[in-house]
Amino acid sequence: MKNSFIIKADICYSKNSKEIKTYKDSYLVCQDGYSKGVFKEIPDIYKSLEVYDYSGNLVLPGLIDLHVHAPQYKYRGLGLDLELLEWLDTYTFPEEAKYSDLNYAKDAYEKFVEDLRDSSTTRAAIFSTLHVESTILLMDMLEKSGLITYVGKVNMDRNGADNLEEKSFDESSENTLEWLKKIDGLYERTFPIITPRFIPSCSDKLMENLSKIRKEYNLAIQSHLSENQNEIAWVKELCPESKFYGDAYDRFGLFGGDYKAIMAHCVWSNDEERELLKKNKVFIAHCPNSNMNLSSGIAPVRKYLDEGQNIGLGSDVAGGIHLSIFKQISDAIQVSKLYWRLVDQTCKPLSIEEGFYLGSLGGGKFFGKVGSFEKDYEFDAIVLDQTAWSCENLNIRQKLERAIYMSCDKDVIHKFVRGRKIF
Ligand code: GUN
Ligand code: FE
Repeated sequence: MKNSFIIKADICYSKNSKEIKTYKDSYLVCQDGYSKGVFKEIPDIYKSLEVYDYSGNLVLPGLIDLHVHAPQYKYRGLGLDLELLEWLDTYTFPEEAKYSDLNYAKDAYEKFVEDLRDSSTTRAAIFSTLHVESTILLMDMLEKSGLITYVGKVNMDRNGADNLEEKSFDESSENTLEWLKKIDGLYERTFPIITPRFIPSCSDKLMENLSKIRKEYNLAIQSHLSENQNEIAWVKELCPESKFYGDAYDRFGLFGGDYKAIMAHCVWSNDEERELLKKNKVFIAHCPNSNMNLSSGIAPVRKYLDEGQNIGLGSDVAGGIHLSIFKQISDAIQVSKLYWRLVDQTCKPLSIEEGFYLGSLGGGKFFGKVGSFEKDYEFDAIVLDQTAWSCENLNIRQKLERAIYMSCDKDVIHKFVRGRKIF
C-alpha cells in the first residue's frame, strides 16, 4: 500500500486547545496518507505494514506556518530598530524589487525552500512578491520539496516603491489572471491564494477585481490586519467609509465567510473586528516574533482562544527572524506572560498545551483535517532527536515542553507530509 507504514516512538499530539494526548513507546499507524491512530500494540489488521523504529525519539504532527514571506528570508534580522511602515519602505520593498530578476530569485528561493523543507514545518501559507515569473519559480521549487503550501503572488497598485508597484489596478488584475492561467494544473501540493498585500497597497478598484477573481477561481485569501497603530490610522484615512480595518476587506467580500481567509497579526483588532473575524471564521495568524521585532504590540491571544477564534502561528519572516514554529510557540507563550503582567491581569498566560495547539492543530485546520494524529487526519509528522539534552527520564509532556523551548530545525531527523517520507 502506498504511503502506509507504522512509526514506533514516543508520540504526542493536540486533542484540542486545552488537552494533549501522550503515548510512551507506542505505534502510530499511517494508511494511504491518513492517520489511523496510536496503539500500545500493533492491531492485527496492520501487522503487515513496515515499522519505522524511532524508539526513544519524540514524534509530533508537522507544524504549521500560517504566514511567511519567502522573498524576505534573505535579509532577516535587518532593520528591526524600525516600525512596520518605515521598515517596509527602507528594507522590504527594495529587497522584494530584486525578484524581477529570475537569477536573483532562484538563488534566494532555493535557500528558503531548502531551509523550510528541513524545518519542523510541514505546511505553510506563503507570500511571494508581485512578480509572476519568480512566483511560479517558487511554486515549482515548493512542489518538488514535498511540503504542502499555499503561495500568493502579491498585489500592490499603490503606495509601493518606484520599482515595486503594479502601474494600475488593471495591470495588477491581469498579472494575477496570467499567473493563475500559467500554473493551472501544474501542481498537486502547491495552491494559489489571493494575496492583496494590505489595504494601503491596494486601491478599491483592485480589491473589486481581486474579489471577482477569487470567486471565479474559488480561491482562499491571505493578507495583513491591524498589525501596527500607524498602519491602522493610515487605513482610516484611505478608507474613511470603513467602520474598522477588517471592514475595508469585508466591503469587497475579501474577509472570509463562505471561503477560507488568513489575516496576519490582529494585534489591535477592536471588538467589532473580532466579532467579524469570528463570524467569518477567518484564521488569525499570530506572529509574536515579528510583533516584538517591529514593536507592533502583543496580540490578545488569550481572548482569541476564549472566543473560539480560528487561530494559528506565523513566522512572518522577515518581521520574524526564525522559520522555526517551535520558536513561535515559545514566543507566543512568553509574550502572553507579558500581556498578563503588564496589560490585562484577567488574561492568563498560554499553557504549553495551548501554545502547541496554536502551532499544530490550530493552524492545521486551515488545511483541513491536519495537525493531529486522531484517526483520519492527514498524516504529517516530524521525528525529533532529543539525545543532546538528556531527555531519557522525562515524561512525554516534559519532552514536548523541552522541544518547544529548545528545538532547532536540525533536531528534526525525519519528516512525513500526507504520508510521504520526505527525509
Ligand atoms: N504589511 C504589509 N506588508 C507587510 C510585510 O511584508 N510584513 C509585515 N510584517 N507586515 C506587512
Ligand atoms: Fe507579513
